[in-house]
Amino acid sequence: MNILVTGGAGFIGSNFINYILSERDDVFIVNLDKLTYAGNLENLKPSEGKKNYQFVRGDITNNELVDYLFKKYSIKYVINFAAESHVDRSILGSEIFYRTNVIGTNVLLEASRRYNIEKFLQVSTDEVYGSLGATGLFTEQTPITTNSPYSSSKAAADLMVQAFHHTYGLPVVITRCSNNYGPLQFPEKLIPLMILNCLKDKKLPVYGDGMNVRDWIYVIDHNKAVNLVFEKGRIGEVYNIGASREMANIQIVKLILNKLGKTEELIEYVKDRPGHDRRYAIDSTKIQTELGWKPSFEFEQAMEYTIDWYLANKTWWERIISGEYQKYYEVQYGNR
Ligand code: NAD
Ligand code: TYD
Repeated sequence: MNILVTGGAGFIGSNFINYILSERDDVFIVNLDKLTYAGNLENLKPSEGKKNYQFVRGDITNNELVDYLFKKYSIKYVINFAAESHVDRSILGSEIFYRTNVIGTNVLLEASRRYNIEKFLQVSTDEVYGSLGATGLFTEQTPITTNSPYSSSKAAADLMVQAFHHTYGLPVVITRCSNNYGPLQFPEKLIPLMILNCLKDKKLPVYGDGMNVRDWIYVIDHNKAVNLVFEKGRIGEVYNIGASREMANIQIVKLILNKLGKTEELIEYVKDRPGHDRRYAIDSTKIQTELGWKPSFEFEQAMEYTIDWYLANKTWWERIISGEYQKYYEVQYGNR
């Protein structure tokens, strides 16, 4: 089973590859990743050197390269994790989001059509559903209504995947997951950013009133769900993935402060993110009843494990924040 996994050097993709290759040796994975600021080959140490794993540095928007890889490796399956993934960056500049997330997905879809692949799994996001009020949950029937350049580009890709199914009969499945946390997450996202700032006694920049709500899931639970949808999901279907763990941002920040024994004086309320979605919450009844998935990690414990992982892997994140990321941090937050 030859699978092209894209974006496999990022947070979720690397956890996915390491997990799958530790479970099975009947798959051959080609990991196509551009190694942007978010891609890190160190994430893949457990998979390096395995004979059923091949890394290729390259861009999913590169038609010739993608075509070459499909041919060379007889690709029959695609799992598309590759994306520009950070909302704040999409607000600073949207073009690369359009290029990678929309055009890149389209290049993969066209190649998949040419080579008659068996299955294309698109890793989409719950952010395509827009924002919820105080009550209610996103179901697979919730209309797509996006707000940020990031979510809009992901929605365009998601709809293009559906179009290739309806128009050309391409065998696709789509997952829409809520916010992930866990080891190897790039420290621009809420949880690792707050952990690292705490460790350095830097201010913790909380946007707006801190009451925006996200529905958190441990990355391994997400990846187990992706694997299940890949294996057993009905063609042409969308599956929501979420662990029903809604938290206001300020609750997360206080939990991290508490665990690291730091004072709440580090909290700094800063100007809100423009167009900031208020609340996300996922109804994952479909994947639970149809495919028998359920989350297996308990939030407090998995958060504790995640914080401990960042404590134990200082060299991993120090190498990251000493480089390119430092420039982004200064643009986004000034020199706080
Ligand atoms: P990430 O930013 O950590 O990793 C993205 C990876 O894609 C990096 O390795 C990067 O080098 C690679 N990449 C970027 N542009 C590329 C290109 N043009 N060609 C090839 N590779 C390229 O992202 P993540 O958090 O691991 O997210 C992975 C996927 O899951 C994304 O599609 C994202 O939209 C989706 N998702 C993420 C979350 C979350 O909470 N992080 C939730 C739901 C869905
Ligand atoms: P983030 O991790 O960027 O994920 P997303 O925007 O895709 O949900 O942010 C999670 C929440 O945390 C979101 O409501 C924005 C907020 N946030 C802050 O308050 N401060 C920060 O420095 C960051 C990065 C995020």
